[in-house]
Amino acid sequence: MNQVDYLRISLIDRCNFRCQYCMPEGVELDYILKQQMLTDEELLTLIEEVFIPVGFKQFRLTGGEPLLRPRVVDLVSAIASLPQTEDLSMTTNGFLLAPMAQNLYNAGLRRINISLDSLDPDIFDQIIGNQGRSRWQQVWQGIQAAHQVGFNPLKLNVVVIPGVNDHEVLDLAALTIDKQWHVRFIEFMPIGNVHLFGDRGWVSSADLRESIRDRWGLTESLVRGAGPADVFQIPGAKGTLGFISQMSECFCDRCNRMRLSADGWLRPCLLNETGQIDLKTALRSGASTAQLQEQVRHLLGIKPEINFKGRDSGISGTYTRTMSQIGG
Ligand code: GTP
Ligand code: 5AD
Ligand code: SF4
Repeated sequence: MNQVDYLRISLIDRCNFRCQYCMPEGVELDYILKQQMLTDEELLTLIEEVFIPVGFKQFRLTGGEPLLRPRVVDLVSAIASLPQTEDLSMTTNGFLLAPMAQNLYNAGLRRINISLDSLDPDIFDQIIGNQGRSRWQQVWQGIQAAHQVGFNPLKLNVVVIPGVNDHEVLDLAALTIDKQWHVRFIEFMPIGNVHLFGDRGWVSSADLRESIRDRWGLTESLVRGAGPADVFQIPGAKGTLGFISQMSECFCDRCNRMRLSADGWLRPCLLNETGQIDLKTALRSGASTAQLQEQVRHLLGIKPEINFKGRDSGISGTYTRTMSQIGG
């Protein structure tokens, strides 16, 4: 069991994309009202006075789309400058990234994960639910900007959907040959658009690895990190290939993270709401930092039970909340 010291912080539940697998067009979500969102000040208080004292050292900013959060660069700067922050990262769809990349880097962000589900602009637009001018180019510019600014590692996330983008796996994997990028293939999970999941199903990482191995060979990484990805490499490639296999293999026993929603709910597991606590209400009703720390410590204590419940061999059941609501 890894030490739980990694907090994924959802800065906002809104998004400028409507990915088919997450929050497709036509589906109305109950967005968090502005007055229910943690303010910058409340968020920083929780990080500094509650999460850091109980042992959290790594923070990942997520969404919806985190770059839609007003004053996000200032927030990055405030979190990065805390002496106890060992790692600060962000997961974004990349659409607003190009003009912000340098400022984010200067503010102290070093690691960035960007979704890129297709190299084909038409398929990309179909996946992200875009009906206007193509958005692929702008995302690609965001990726290039992040590369030039020096984000390292730079990870690209691909959710593999049968019959939609699975034929592009070799092309996406080939990006790692010349560039020091980390392309990660994510097994589609029944979170968000469960109808699409029902129609399409998912492709196992083992199958993807087989086709990559047939084409170039594939070396296994000796290191299994604390994160969800198993890391491999095309021999001689500059970058790596990651496989996030939550459907075919349960990696909960090495889970090192908790999640804080934009409205201040702390949940111990992506797939399980059991035990989640409402830190915002506690904070606003005057709970002391000692009391808040105690609540988080309690949750840390019961997390192993919550992680494992009914999930010994991958995901079963369906989950109707989207990644945009939980924070990915
Ligand atoms: P690093 O390891 O810090 O680079 O981050 P990450 O890969 O966890 O972050 P990212 O936001 O890029 O998440 C990529 C995918 O990993 C998400 O789509 C999720 O499917 C999956 N994932 C991340 N954390 C968890 C987790 O705790 N449980 C499960 N089941 N999946 C997770
Ligand atoms: N299954 C797998 N991954 C998903 N993501 C969003 N919804 C799903 C799903 N149903 C991914 C996004 C992004 C990350 C935060 O979560 O593509 O890479
Ligand atoms: Fe797509 Fe991420 Fe936005 Fe969901 S939150 S619609 S997965 S970009």
